[in-house]
Amino acid sequence: MSLLIAPSMLSSDFSRLADELGAIDRAGADWIHLDVMDGHFVPNITFGPPIIKAMRPHTTKLFDVHLMIEPVDPFLAAFADAGADLISVHVEAGRHVHRTLQAIRGLGRQSGIVLNPATPETSLQYLLDDVDLVLLMTVNPGFGGQAFIPGVVEKVRRVKAMIGDRPVRLEIDGGVTPDTAPALVAAGADVLVAGTAVFRGGTEAAYAANIAALRAAGAPR
Ligand code: DX5
Ligand code: ZN
Repeated sequence: MSLLIAPSMLSSDFSRLADELGAIDRAGADWIHLDVMDGHFVPNITFGPPIIKAMRPHTTKLFDVHLMIEPVDPFLAAFADAGADLISVHVEAGRHVHRTLQAIRGLGRQSGIVLNPATPETSLQYLLDDVDLVLLMTVNPGFGGQAFIPGVVEKVRRVKAMIGDRPVRLEIDGGVTPDTAPALVAAGADVLVAGTAVFRGGTEAAYAANIAALRAAGAPR
């Protein structure tokens, strides 16, 4: 699968979301990663369905919605209606995650499952046929700009083997930079989320250069 770059809007200027979406779209983003935090599952609060709905007209790129909320199920329809194309939920955020994944597909959206750095990959064993994407966190979720946890690279390799020939994308989120990308892609990652490393510089030209640098770092060598 070709490598996709998914800039996280968490690092954008929230006072200019429409402009930032246009800029990141033109700068070469493949997907738009949207971090939803509730101040309960994670120690931070960001935005919810109304903001995603307001963002939706400003790009046609896939909205990759990363839910860091608990509970999840009561809000799935609102995120689907707001324009989410892919909805990812944490395995740690609910007791009935299989039901949640089926509900996402039932809404006509792609489903993703997310694992925190300390959550073993065995939790994926009975879920892989119900997801379109596995997201492995390489920081503890809640904030942008945190340091990459290198021990997760081995987990990426093991999860890639578990996925096998299923049409399931393997996404990485947290501390992704041109320095950390090569090992991740070599281990099997095919979607890289990046906030700080993409929005550094604050201009469309800087975003384009930052995305190109990530793509180059992940290119086969
Ligand atoms: C962290 C979020 C990430 C975050 C990544 O909880 O899930 O998507 O925005 O930010 P960087 O790339 O700065 O680590
Ligand atoms: Zn995220």
